[in-house]
Amino acid sequence: MTQPLDAAVRHLVRDDAGQVAATAADLILDGLDGSSTLGLATGSSPLGAYDEIVRRVRSGAAPARVARRGYLLDEYLGLPAGDRNTYASVIRREVADALGLDVRGPDGRAADPDAEAARYGREVVEASVAVQVLGIGRNGHLGFNEPGSPLDSRTRVVRLTETTRRDNARFFDSAADVPTHAITQGLTTIMRARRLVLIALGERKADAVHAALHGPVDPACPASIIQRHPEAYVVTDRGAAGG
Ligand code: F6R
Repeated sequence: MTQPLDAAVRHLVRDDAGQVAATAADLILDGLDGSSTLGLATGSSPLGAYDEIVRRVRSGAAPARVARRGYLLDEYLGLPAGDRNTYASVIRREVADALGLDVRGPDGRAADPDAEAARYGREVVEASVAVQVLGIGRNGHLGFNEPGSPLDSRTRVVRLTETTRRDNARFFDSAADVPTHAITQGLTTIMRARRLVLIALGERKADAVHAALHGPVDPACPASIIQRHPEAYVVTDRGAAGG
């Protein structure tokens, strides 16, 4: 993949989480119309932006139909059907139901997860995601592309690192309940979205944000691949910007 000449991540630093949410909502809505597709990350970082979009739709400040369909960035493998922690459930609960948005994602209970990952990867590429919302892991992961993920990786089954499992344990009854594997959009799949909007909050993300924006584009920090995207935005508070 060659770096487009105009590739330069726009880093927008805001004073607090509310301003981060407002700026991210602007960037997300600006990249969509009612016929486009929206890529949705789970996790705590995008929640403020999702709430802000719902608020604007309800108040009439944004169109009632913000997108045609939503696509999950990733999904755990092996959770019971309908479990509240499946990313499909989380995204419906946090944003999609309120927006009346139909959401597609990989089937985390598929008998053949590798085949399901390949099928979902094709579906996402065909859908031409207009805006992909992203968070970033403390270890620089993007989606569930953990450090070491090839920069040309496709949508596939991955093993979660212990750091990621520990970070996500807060949503489960016990740490042992956090799945060990997931299906994630690959880095090449993510890079096909027309616009990327990565949101990061808090000092604990500062090292990862710095590596993603200013380090080498390297599998050691999968999020660094966004440096090669022609329309990538990173919206952070001062803490995640490094003070
Ligand atoms: C979520 C995802 C992850 C998170 C990341 C940050 O779908 O793929 O990469 O975006 O772990 O999570 P939070 O926002 O909870 O800090």
